[in-house]
Amino acid sequence: MTEKKPFYITTPIYYPSAKLHIGHAYCTTIADSIARFHRLIGEDVFFLTGSDEHGQKIQQKAEEAGVTPIEYVDKIVAGFQNLWKRLNISNDDFIRTTQKRHERVVQEIFNRIYAKGDIYKGSYKGLYCTPCESYWTEHQLDENGCCPDCHRPVQEVSEEAYFFKMSKYADRVLQYIEDHPDFIQPVSRRNEMINFIKQGLDDLCISRTSFDWGIPVPIDLKHVIYVWFDALTNYLTPIGFLDDPEKFQKYWPADLHLVGKEIVRFHTIIWPCILMALDLPLPKKVYGHGWLIVDGDKMSKSKGNVVDPNGLIDEFGADAIRYFLLREINLGQDGNFSRDALIQRINSDLANDLGNLLHRTLNMTIKFQDGVLLAPEGESEVDKSLKADAKETVDFFKKNMQDMQLSATIKKVWAFISRANKYIDETTPWALAKDSEKKQELANVMYNLAESLRVISVLISPFMPVTAERIWKQLNLPQAFKDVQIEDIESWGGVPAGLKVGEPEQLFPRIEVEKEEAEKPAKKAKQEKAAKQKKTEKKEEVPGVIGIEDFGKVALRVAEVVAAEPVPKADKLLKLQLSLGEGQPQRQVVSGIAKFYQPDELVGKHVVLVVNLKPAKLRGVVSEGMILAASDGKGLKVLEVNMPAGTEVR
Ligand code: MSP
Repeated sequence: MTEKKPFYITTPIYYPSAKLHIGHAYCTTIADSIARFHRLIGEDVFFLTGSDEHGQKIQQKAEEAGVTPIEYVDKIVAGFQNLWKRLNISNDDFIRTTQKRHERVVQEIFNRIYAKGDIYKGSYKGLYCTPCESYWTEHQLDENGCCPDCHRPVQEVSEEAYFFKMSKYADRVLQYIEDHPDFIQPVSRRNEMINFIKQGLDDLCISRTSFDWGIPVPIDLKHVIYVWFDALTNYLTPIGFLDDPEKFQKYWPADLHLVGKEIVRFHTIIWPCILMALDLPLPKKVYGHGWLIVDGDKMSKSKGNVVDPNGLIDEFGADAIRYFLLREINLGQDGNFSRDALIQRINSDLANDLGNLLHRTLNMTIKFQDGVLLAPEGESEVDKSLKADAKETVDFFKKNMQDMQLSATIKKVWAFISRANKYIDETTPWALAKDSEKKQELANVMYNLAESLRVISVLISPFMPVTAERIWKQLNLPQAFKDVQIEDIESWGGVPAGLKVGEPEQLFPRIEVEKEEAEKPAKKAKQEKAAKQKKTEKKEEVPGVIGIEDFGKVALRVAEVVAAEPVPKADKLLKLQLSLGEGQPQRQVVSGIAKFYQPDELVGKHVVLVVNLKPAKLRGVVSEGMILAASDGKGLKVLEVNMPAGTEVR
């Protein structure tokens, strides 16, 4: 037997400073679907998630709660594990940084790098953001002198500390990033990191003495190890770094560290420097996904808009939430969560498209053929086209899931579901059933529908594992669902002839929107209260002056104009095609600049695009965003930026 190809995938380890929200669930769900896909194609997957339990913030939280740090985190981490179980996350291990196995790894790594001469003792004077557990220099702070990531105040700290010689590795890391275009994705993040390193890397302070909730520095017990140094090494602990060389050899380097966009820097600069100091290979890929916002706003406790995934699972079930998150958001970009959009997707895609296909197929098989799927013979043109579409969908799935195009893959699978529904309308089995001469034709149609559903259940299994298995069971397929591999759907005809299907069971009940509305008053009242409060706050503000959070709502990106043409019968308008970088869908924007530019002049320009503007139609042409321009009433110039397409503008 040939050895299975290993695939090691990780999520960030989450801080147990508070309960997890829907944004965290988003990240873990992505990782889970990718892990499930790699198992489906026969790889030996190791999928790791966990909790990052040390640091000053946790110590402060525990003090506020009047409990010890370990009591504090134990309770919250139990909640993490319960959430992952409820969301059907298939992780192979769960690492807690407070576990002994991890403490040993961190201390050993410290010792090895110290022995090599890459850790030295010095004194640290600088600025620290406790919520982000990040050190900053004066020039890195935002315009208000606050943390550039979370915009909260930083504290001055001054203490004796150990430093890691990161500066020594700066050139090598830069070289590595430049030589390995796939290492950091999406490409916009890669460019950010290259620019960051080019500004020079300081040595990193990796120990603290002002609090004690951390792993002790093995050679100097009054210090604890900096929480990010401790956290990043979590990726080595469960795969046998210290105790199982064979396992370690198999899974390291990791195939994919999936992380949120704001922690790409830690994973692609600090982490590679640590690995280089240990003479270990670097991970093959770090992917920085975008952030989930809620109803257009960043989630925050103070706004009261933090969405608890547990509540959603209670109401709609895990698979519906998973489907929504993976379908609705393009992986590298920020995306919006809204309850209304979720309900709409459940009703149209799940209850209607998928639910109806299964229901109609089983019902008709029971009604017209006593529930038995008969052997097909011959094929019509429609049958042929259905089978060709199935094959094309399976091929698309294999290629695009490798490339982490989850949303595009789901859309393609749903196109096939619609196609199968259309096949019912085209073949009209109810009419065939009335004609005794069309028995074989009817048998073929029912067989092809069941076979389509068999294929669909496998294709949706990375995204909606429970629904996939429910479909499989309702079809009554003899093969155990857990043993299914991609090869099982690569050729047509896996449903055994003579199979008696099971009873149809509803997959997703429709959510009655009116009922939903009626149950909303409590939620509405809460929203109104929040809006009122916002208004009062606004009154106290200087007219015309906006807060950083208002500005933060506008998402700006550098975009390259790849094509431009006039809009017919509109002398002021040009239709532009804009690229947001490799792998990102192009945007079409209609812009009122025709009086100032010839279309060709614009091609190749790097302009600034508002990417989260609601699409609109101008003279019947869809416009998905707006580009920025400066105008004095007479002349006009579009804003140009010498940065790669996709780069965020802040
Ligand atoms: N503990 C560190 C990670 C250490 S990994 C060696 C940490 N923890 S965190 O709990 O603050 O964040 C964990 C992950 O959740 C990050 O990747 C972050 O981007 C992600 N998210 C937090 N809020 C999010 C959204 N609103 N949307 C999507 N992901 C978000 O950072």
